[in-house]
Amino acid sequence: MQRDEAKLREYYAAAPADICLADVDLDRVPSHVSIIMDGNGRWAQARGLDRSRGHVAGVDALREAVTTSVRLGLDALSVYAFSTENWRRPQREVDLLMHLFATTLVNELPLFHQENVRLRFLGDLDALPEKTRQVFQRGLDETADHTGMTFALAVNYGSRAEIARAARQIAQEVAAGSLDPSDVDEDALASRLYTAGLPDPDLLIRTSGELRLSNYLLWQLAYTEFYVTPTFWPDFSRWDFLRAVVSYQSRSRRFGGVVTS
Ligand code: IPE
Ligand code: IPE
Ligand code: MG
Repeated sequence: MQRDEAKLREYYAAAPADICLADVDLDRVPSHVSIIMDGNGRWAQARGLDRSRGHVAGVDALREAVTTSVRLGLDALSVYAFSTENWRRPQREVDLLMHLFATTLVNELPLFHQENVRLRFLGDLDALPEKTRQVFQRGLDETADHTGMTFALAVNYGSRAEIARAARQIAQEVAAGSLDPSDVDEDALASRLYTAGLPDPDLLIRTSGELRLSNYLLWQLAYTEFYVTPTFWPDFSRWDFLRAVVSYQSRSRRFGGVVTS
């Protein structure tokens, strides 16, 4: 993806002691970064606040992550915002999150226009409240012509449900005679996932220190590099993003082969 180097340098001007833009090889930034945004509740609890305040603060961190991704010239940023298991939370928290998704999306549309960001969603949107679904559709419609970075928001997303859904679609197509069983290969399955057309993530970031996937992108993360930071999501800054990219660039990705250089 094209990047504006002058804007990037300005964005990363006031560097802390341990990291700066020069630490990054700009010719090798990951194409697709994915983030499990975790720790909003603990961020709030540590301050004696209601968990909902953590979710509200998390919106600022997400805006910064989108801007950072655009500045670095990523092709795609995807983020886990609500899992199929998150319905188990208290109704009040679920309602707040659904409301926050809708209001945030409306508020951030000017940013998507300004930065030419194309929006997409991962997950089953049918189960969402009507208002949230309407706003999501508006976001899709208004950014459909954008040619810059793709921003994928995973809402009511669960990887097992996603894979089961793809398998069901394939079974239906085979039963209808429009798909031959011998054509059911990895591409056939991948093209029926919510992420169809997106490259697999190169780098997965999880905040708040948890070492698990929580039903996120089980198929797509097969060869993704992981970066876990103890930082709670609302505190995750452009500098933390840079630390993750520097760590990613120090890895040797072998994809099952051997190192050749
Ligand atoms: C992540 O923060 C946001 C969502 C899952 C919606 P949490 O709400 O999971 O925060 P913790 O993990 O309880 O601290
Ligand atoms: C994963 O976080 C889901 C999102 C970040 C949206 P959770 O907080 O729901 O994950 P667990 O329950 O700790 O595994
Ligand atoms: Mg959590």
